[in-house]
Amino acid sequence: MAVTINTLRNYKEKGEAFAVLTAYDATFAQVVSEAGVDAILIGDSLGMVLQGHDSTLPVTMEQICYHVRSVAKGNRGALIMADMPFMSYGTIPSALDNAAALMRAGAHMVKLEGTDWMADTIKAISDRGIPVCAHLGLTPQFVNKFGGYKVQGRDEKQAEQMIEHACQLEAAGADVILLECVPSALAARITQAVRAPVIGIGAGKDTDGQVLVLHDMLGIPPGKKARFVKNFLAEGGSIPGAIEAYVAAVRERSFPAEEHTFKA
Ligand code: KIV
Repeated sequence: MAVTINTLRNYKEKGEAFAVLTAYDATFAQVVSEAGVDAILIGDSLGMVLQGHDSTLPVTMEQICYHVRSVAKGNRGALIMADMPFMSYGTIPSALDNAAALMRAGAHMVKLEGTDWMADTIKAISDRGIPVCAHLGLTPQFVNKFGGYKVQGRDEKQAEQMIEHACQLEAAGADVILLECVPSALAARITQAVRAPVIGIGAGKDTDGQVLVLHDMLGIPPGKKARFVKNFLAEGGSIPGAIEAYVAAVRERSFPAEEHTFKA
């Protein structure tokens, strides 16, 4: 049966963890959905892992739409989440047009990066029938403001502000919250504070779901890997095996382990 936003809500209610991966093409969409991944994210991370940029900022709407169409063709029942690229939601009219374009391309939900300033935009999108994921914490489109890819919410003032923002964005209509690179104790507090399912990456084991970039969990990028990444190909033995191992580890909450998490 196809995964919907209600499936994710039911997982949260039952305390069952769910697994999300990025994918950008039809073949991988088929492989990850057949391996049991609940949701596929067409992330603007494609700017880094597919296009070789050093940030996600150059990614355009046209490119994300192209990849959403490809993923939709290969997908076998996972929920399709599409990133709204940098400045595609700078104003409410542009956000509505661009969210509509992503839904027409085959997405089931759009994802926006930011904080409380997105509340009106999220309300406008959500009121028009489009499910929304609000991405908080380390939001890579803000890398130039952050001065690098840094863990967010480490001090108590910032942590309380992030909890408040998550609650505000949920009240505005966000159906899902995504937390990237935040201390695990803060992610646990946010997961408790909101009714919406919370997906984590570098956010510890207590969020409702986990997401990783596909290329990272297959150990493809050369060089040093981020703390929150685990290479599942080593234990899975094949690409479908690696993805099945990831799904199983997320469901039994053995991933992320302590070594993949951040402290305040
Ligand atoms: O772009 C992306 O792939 C993402 C994930 C890292 C959460 O936003």
